Amino acid sequence: MRKVSILVIRDRHKRLLSLIREHGYRLFAAMGCMLVIAASTAVSAYLVKPVLDDIFFSKNLAMLKIIPPVVILIYFLRGLGHYGHEYLMNHVGQSIIKRLRDSLYVHIQDLPISFFQKEKTGALMSRLTNDVNIIKSMVSTAFTSTLRDCFTIIGLTVVIFYRDWKLALYAVIVLPIAFFPIVEFGRRVRRVSTGCQEAMADLSSFLHETFVGNKIIKAFGMESYERKRFFNKTASLFRLEMKAVIARSLSSPIMEFVGGIGIAFIIGYGGYRVITGASTTGTFFSFMAAVLMLYDPVKKLSGLNNSIQEGLAAADRIFDIIERKSDIVEDKDAVSIELSPHSVTFQNVFFRYDEEMVLNDINLEVRAGEVLAIVGVSGSGKTTLVNLIPRFFDVAQGAVLIDGQDIRKITLSSLRRQIAIVTQDSILFNESIRDNIANGNPEAADEAIVEASKAAYAYDFIHNFPDGFNTVIGELGGRLSGGEKQRICIARALLKDAPILILDEATSSLDTESEMLVQKAIENLMKGRTTFVIAHRLSTIGYAHRIIVISNGRIAEEGTHDALMAQNGEYFKLYQMQFSNNNGDRF
Ligand SMILES: Nc1ncnc2c1ncn2[C@@H]1O[C@H](COP(=O)(O)OP(=O)(O)O)[C@@H](O)[C@H]1O
Ligand SMILES: [Mg+2]
Repeated sequence: MRKVSILVIRDRHKRLLSLIREHGYRLFAAMGCMLVIAASTAVSAYLVKPVLDDIFFSKNLAMLKIIPPVVILIYFLRGLGHYGHEYLMNHVGQSIIKRLRDSLYVHIQDLPISFFQKEKTGALMSRLTNDVNIIKSMVSTAFTSTLRDCFTIIGLTVVIFYRDWKLALYAVIVLPIAFFPIVEFGRRVRRVSTGCQEAMADLSSFLHETFVGNKIIKAFGMESYERKRFFNKTASLFRLEMKAVIARSLSSPIMEFVGGIGIAFIIGYGGYRVITGASTTGTFFSFMAAVLMLYDPVKKLSGLNNSIQEGLAAADRIFDIIERKSDIVEDKDAVSIELSPHSVTFQNVFFRYDEEMVLNDINLEVRAGEVLAIVGVSGSGKTTLVNLIPRFFDVAQGAVLIDGQDIRKITLSSLRRQIAIVTQDSILFNESIRDNIANGNPEAADEAIVEASKAAYAYDFIHNFPDGFNTVIGELGGRLSGGEKQRICIARALLKDAPILILDEATSSLDTESEMLVQKAIENLMKGRTTFVIAHRLSTIGYAHRIIVISNGRIAEEGTHDALMAQNGEYFKLYQMQFSNNNGDRF
């Protein structure tokens, strides 16, 4: 967790409070219910005296007719109060959960690619599930029971003083002693709980990684290694949880012990006053009943501090994310651009992820409708170069221009609307094939989707599924081959009909046969678009108008296939390498 200043923390607490305050009238109604509960508790303690003194000692028949119906009425109202209180407070708590989850999701979605590369998916998921829940329990149990318990304590204290103020004064002196362990244990709980939640996040990200990568684990026989890693994590989580349990559960026995001392004192002193005739049995028991009833709300108040500490720790983790700003920001005078053929220019572009420059002084102009192939050994910076166009990252120096306009002066949404991307890993979502192709555009006409799938050479295999375009990707499990998934991705890019196209090793993971189909689909896709095609296999870029060779983040060579071969340089070397591996034979 990042270190945060007191001012920031104060601001965070204010924001949490403002979330709660939005539910003002529900809180107000809940407070009414709490008053009913508190009053019913106090009245029950109060009634002990007339029950004992009037009914049992004085044998007063009139009181016998009044008190039982009053007791029924009190418990009826108390039940209503409990229900209303629970319902209202949980309504508030759950609404806050929803608000927090929604805004976290929206915020996380807008964070740049670099954020997702740094953060672990499982840990992020844990923020949205576990941490948000902890805040809910802070709000709906802790925050609300404070008020209820305070009201109850006030009501009972009034009864105590009314019955025997001298005895009450003595009892009140003991209270501060009971509060000391509450505060101390609260601190400890907060510390341990932060550790627990971080361990939980670590566990989720481990699970996510090993479930997604299960195939590799099996293939490399890493099961027992991963098992050991997992057991280590659950063991350290166990230790942390037990520490939290110790801190949490020590506070109540200590309180109980202090309470026991108090009660012993009351019995001694109070009993003496009854025996000497200074007080009545009814008064004593009414007093005693109120003191015993005090125990529950006071104990809850001590637990309250623990859950507030846990909740604040969770809130800190959530605000750590909410306060993170995206470094990819729109210029305040950003304009949107039309959907039309565009030229793309790199002007003295430098880029780095960390210290080292990954792209060095790139100057490149791609005309509207031109197909540019980018080749180079793995790690030379090809993906990095094309990632600058949709502003997944921003340049360190220089500029990327579209039709002469710096892309930082174009709205992000209209910029990204101009670009379709097909990458090596075909990312599809667990929706129907139709929705995957339409990709967020529910208005897309069925004919357009069929047409796109035909141009992508995907129509035939989609058509053969029993549910056709309505087949849900997830239900297919592993049944879609790499080539089939890739062709759905191409159909998606076709339907987007964007003027700029980025193909990042779109065919690298395919076998020769599906590569040929995908290749044809890609040729359909490229028509009339400004295209950047990164190809691992030089055999697949025969249609490019121009080829650039990237080497160590610089443009080493540039030209047509024939011109580059004649230069006998980097390109020639790459070509020779593939040719001797029998990969370039279809060139
Ligand atoms: N997110 C990242 N953070 C740090 N370094 C990165 C990141 N992505 C890529 N790199 C580094 O930048 C260089 C270029 O990577 P990349 O553009 O993916 O190469 P190519 O696509 O040509 O194989 C490599 O040295 C790679 O290790
Ligand atoms: Mg790459």
